[in-house]
Amino acid sequence: MKSLLALFLVFDFLTSGTHVMIEVWGKPNSLKNGKNLGNITWNSCMMACHGSEDCIMAHLRSQNCYLFNEVTMSTVNRTKPENMAIVAFKSNVTNEKCFDVEPTTIWGYIFHYKNTSENPKWIYYTISLARNQWNHMYMYNYSCPEGTWAVFRSDSSIACYVVTIKIVFPIFFLNFQQFYSTNGAGDFNYTYSKTGCEKQTGSPPLAGLHYPEDMSYMDNLVEAVKSVSGIDSFYSRIDGIRTTACQKTPTTEECMSVKGFKFIGQPVKNFDHYNWVTNSSSREKSGYDCLVLVADKKKPLRVDVKSCTKNSPLTVQLVFCSKPAFT
Ligand SMILES: *[C@@H]1O[C@H](CO)[C@@H](O)[C@H](O)[C@H]1NC(C)=O
Ligand SMILES: *[C@@H]1O[C@H](CO)[C@@H](O)[C@H](O)[C@H]1NC(C)=O
Ligand SMILES: *[C@@H]1O[C@H](CO)[C@@H](O)[C@H](O)[C@H]1NC(C)=O
Ligand SMILES: *[C@@H]1O[C@H](CO)[C@@H](O)[C@H](O)[C@H]1NC(C)=O
Ligand SMILES: *[C@@H]1O[C@H](CO)[C@@H](O)[C@H](O)[C@H]1NC(C)=O
Ligand SMILES: *[C@@H]1O[C@H](CO)[C@@H](O)[C@H](O)[C@H]1NC(C)=O
Ligand SMILES: *[C@@H]1O[C@H](CO)[C@@H](O)[C@H](O)[C@H]1NC(C)=O
Repeated sequence: MKSLLALFLVFDFLTSGTHVMIEVWGKPNSLKNGKNLGNITWNSCMMACHGSEDCIMAHLRSQNCYLFNEVTMSTVNRTKPENMAIVAFKSNVTNEKCFDVEPTTIWGYIFHYKNTSENPKWIYYTISLARNQWNHMYMYNYSCPEGTWAVFRSDSSIACYVVTIKIVFPIFFLNFQQFYSTNGAGDFNYTYSKTGCEKQTGSPPLAGLHYPEDMSYMDNLVEAVKSVSGIDSFYSRIDGIRTTACQKTPTTEECMSVKGFKFIGQPVKNFDHYNWVTNSSSREKSGYDCLVLVADKKKPLRVDVKSCTKNSPLTVQLVFCSKPAFT
């Protein structure tokens, strides 16, 4: 019994998070792509794996700690205690009991979000024992498709954005890979912008302002465009067009609320994150029924209700498209 416990110990001090490390006697068939942390104790080695976003297996050999992710991990031969070769697999926690028999399948899922060169993703993996060898399989579930930009919100939800920028200058002047934007020609009127969004990667609809982080993201882009293009006052198209009924009575309470507008994207719950130039009842002229972001020199980015068809009095330079992640 003692040897069993030593074999499959689940560490109490590691169970506070969402994962545990499960130790088994075993020897990886390749160390080639492992990350070598050098001469540290086995406990520190396991802790390092537990604390790392990437790691799913730790191994100690010749006084070197190796960490492996789902790509670098090789098959692992099951060994006997006298071989003194040990590995620890990262596993999801369901109950905090110690194993009293050796598990034959270990499950895990980890969320990758720190690698800025790709969108956050879930990695689901299983490590299973067959014919004295541990093999693993894995699957990815991306939050946002490639070619879109993931924006994290305060409640840990994620939005996937694509932005279209009017061709006034080539986008390679901006460090725009990171914002995921494409160049577009045409008028950028409401209908054209709406259709344009649907043609983008992942076909996100026009974007709404659901969280303060949406506004911050848009503001960053607007500022970048200002600094590179030299145009300091322009509109950006976002989701929201006044309903036909409310075009006659824009100032009623109902028409000033989100009910007064039609949204094509994720339904906008309220206007809490809309920083209005005046308010949502604004209708200077007939046809001024579409929500736009107003960049006005050094003033903070604000929302107004402007023409759905005309580029006036300012021009529309940007179109924001977004959708919730994993959809
Ligand atoms: C692992 O086991 C396989 C098959 O039993 C054997 O061919 C291989 O040499 C072993 N690898 C190591 C590193 O012992
Ligand atoms: C590893 O560290 C231990 C403890 O600090 C030390 O005794 C040992 O010589 C080191 N081994 C190597 C290969 O540096
Ligand atoms: C981990 O998650 C899987 C799938 O949800 C579940 O079947 C398994 O029992 C969980 N626990 C361990 C320790 O693998
Ligand atoms: C980050 O993601 C890129 C693209 O998928 C990949 O090539 C790179 O190896 C990743 N970096 C790390 C540290 O995992
Ligand atoms: C991907 O992850 C999300 C969020 O955890 C989940 O809602 C969705 O069902 C997952 N999709 C697949 C194919 O696993
Ligand atoms: C909107 O813009 C597109 C592209 O420039 C144009 O073809 C279309 O006629 C415009 N629609 C309106 C109503 O102005
Ligand atoms: C909305 O703004 C207009 C000025 O554009 C103002 O006259 C009106 O009183 C405001 N309505 C509310 C409810 O704030």
